[in-house]
Amino acid sequence: MEEVKKEFKPQAIVEVLEDGPIKITGNFMVSDSKRDIMDSPEEVYLCRCGRSGNKPYCDGSHKT
Ligand code: FES
Repeated sequence: MEEVKKEFKPQAIVEVLEDGPIKITGNFMVSDSKRDIMDSPEEVYLCRCGRSGNKPYCDGSHKT
C-alpha cells in the first residue's frame, strides 16, 4: 500500500472536512449546468450540508 501511495501523483486532492464542506485543491474543473457555472479554481470548498446560499460553494452556513 505504501508503495502505491509513493507512485500515485494525483492532479487534485479531495478532502472531506469534519462537519463542513468538501475541499478540493489542485488541477480540476467545477461544472454545474443547473447554475451555469464552469470554473477552474486552484482551491474550492463545496457545500455538503445543503444550507449554503451560494451553492455549490460553501458559504459558512454549516456553522450555524
Ligand atoms: S458545508 Fe458549508 S454551507 Fe454547507
